[in-house]
Amino acid sequence: MSQDIFYPNRELFKDSPIPNMESYKRLVEEFEKDYEGTWAKFAKEKIDWFKPFDTILDESNAPFYKWFSGGELNVAHQCVDRHLATKKNKAAIIFEGDNGDQRILTYRELAYEVNKTANMFKNEFGVKKGDRVVIYMPMIPESAVVMLACAKIGAIHSVVFGGFSADALRDRIIDATAKLVVTADGAFRKGKPYMLKPVVDKALESGCDSVEKVCVIERNGEDINWIAGRDYSYNELIKYQSSKCKAEPMEAEEPLFLLYTSGSTGKPKGVQHSQAGYILWAQMTMEWVFDIKDNDTYWCTADIGWITGHTYIVYGPLASGATTVMFEGVPTFPDAGRCWKMVEEYQINQFYTAPTAIRLLHKMGEDEPSKYDLSSLRVLGTVGEPIDPPAWKWYYEAVGGSRCSIVDTYWQTETGGHMISPIPSATPIKPACATFPLPGIIAEVIEQDGTPTPIGEKGFMCFTKPWPSMIRTIWNDPERFKKSYFGDCKKDGKSVYFSGDGAMVDEDGYITITGRTDDVINVSGHRIGTAEIEASIKKHPNVASVAVVGKPHDIKGEGIFAYIVLKQVPISKADEVADDLETMKEINQIIKSDIGAIALCDGMAFVPDLPKTRSGKIMRRILRSIIKGEKITQDISTLEDPTIVSTIENIVNQ
Ligand code: PRX
Repeated sequence: MSQDIFYPNRELFKDSPIPNMESYKRLVEEFEKDYEGTWAKFAKEKIDWFKPFDTILDESNAPFYKWFSGGELNVAHQCVDRHLATKKNKAAIIFEGDNGDQRILTYRELAYEVNKTANMFKNEFGVKKGDRVVIYMPMIPESAVVMLACAKIGAIHSVVFGGFSADALRDRIIDATAKLVVTADGAFRKGKPYMLKPVVDKALESGCDSVEKVCVIERNGEDINWIAGRDYSYNELIKYQSSKCKAEPMEAEEPLFLLYTSGSTGKPKGVQHSQAGYILWAQMTMEWVFDIKDNDTYWCTADIGWITGHTYIVYGPLASGATTVMFEGVPTFPDAGRCWKMVEEYQINQFYTAPTAIRLLHKMGEDEPSKYDLSSLRVLGTVGEPIDPPAWKWYYEAVGGSRCSIVDTYWQTETGGHMISPIPSATPIKPACATFPLPGIIAEVIEQDGTPTPIGEKGFMCFTKPWPSMIRTIWNDPERFKKSYFGDCKKDGKSVYFSGDGAMVDEDGYITITGRTDDVINVSGHRIGTAEIEASIKKHPNVASVAVVGKPHDIKGEGIFAYIVLKQVPISKADEVADDLETMKEINQIIKSDIGAIALCDGMAFVPDLPKTRSGKIMRRILRSIIKGEKITQDISTLEDPTIVSTIENIVNQ
């Protein structure tokens, strides 16, 4: 099947911005001929500037690139206010709660809520331009309102995924020196309330001296603890705020938000995004990759705690003046038909989700899509991890009725928006393949010295020219920014952005992403650094050393597997199993409280030692091969103790 090519259904794509491959190629050529000029053309056309920019791309302090310097804009104005003249009564956000409750915010209502919230942040909490606001929220419309309110007054938001633990939240609050934390009492999942505010309380118990106030939004109405003078009710304060708020003029390069992501070390990185470059690309990719039209209803199932939620639930759709659906619940509750029921009910035109969800829905409800009318769908999207051909086929046939284009969008927290993706109206699609770089994106699969990797072989996925929505720096750590992204690959003697992913180009020029080349695992489309998990496991008093690797997993794509050397092993064989199980439970408990449930180990093996070179370096490739059941092809003679490999194999396979 991987040789099959699927052409866009012309009936579905009548007046698309890139209607066919000829126009795709023309646009690519336009960028090739005049890279900066073409970007400037789009920036002028798409952004409602308060003050025009005077420089397109400033490379003088590479890799700290600047785009559209001198220009002033406001992202909340771009996403909300500017639409009021033409779409004030159009639905901006359609919300569906876990239990099926619905709420619609028109652009006028959204503007009203954003302004009141922005005034609350300024007047009640003293938030000023440049201050950091941590948002620890469920999937409710107020989350988008709060993000936009920050953008309106020039505060920098840092959304922390609601599944992260108190410790993980604390680390992010401290790193960003946040002034305000915005949270909710909790929300609903699978018909039951769950809590968020107690996690914030715990996070703030120590070390978060920068936090002055906590703003609490009511969602599930459960009892929560209030600290007088620190905790304030959003629902109460909002009543007294003016609904008029001037948009703060922001310089193009001032930070819009931080979003923490995992890297190869134990400490998460605060990826910093800009105002103009970010919103420009969010809007352009919404139009090119999702073919968004004025009457469309678009649904992305991500959580606002991840970049997909930022760019493709909030900023991209709203900058495009689209209707975006927000869903609080999970796709399998009350049954595996939930998503398809929603597609039918809201007549969704674009549905964007992760391969892990597709695999789960396929497994739990293969025939569910046939029970609903899914004929409104035009574009189906996937993101976050490679999609396997069987899942792709089911998505294409059962969900898309063999009519829709599937856009396998490859990008990262750091890239801000899509980089390599089919254009649904133009690209002949090969299943489970990200296909071609979007116009304006210069993507190359190369060796570390910049030579092109031969066709069909794995190389480094690099972006060899700066693009507007790229990461600007790592908050508080510019050196780490340089080292993490510009330290590995060079082209023509110049450092270029390396994504951390491997990729392969085929004879037709199609790019397939082959996965991370660093010590980052992709669990259900979420990046988790093995070093972070290892640091957590090492906190167990009986752990001497540990190495964590990814393990193939039917639903999650990759699961987490830990090889652990204990300080003390049980004396008698009889105690062994019970003790081991107890230790495993304790270790997972530590991970849960350190990072969150997303980082729990799917498997552990207690081993007498790890395969190390004589210089002490752990050979993770060997450990990865063992858990995948692959034959060990590496030379093991350089190991300190080559016999450890078969010992570990026996333990894992027993
Ligand atoms: O390994 C790639 C994988 O997800 C990583 C980025 O993760 P994150 O920053 O959390 O952002 C996820 C949502 C954009 C990448 O380095 N990845 C993302 N999209 C794809 C993918 N792998 C294969 N195919 C994709 N379409």
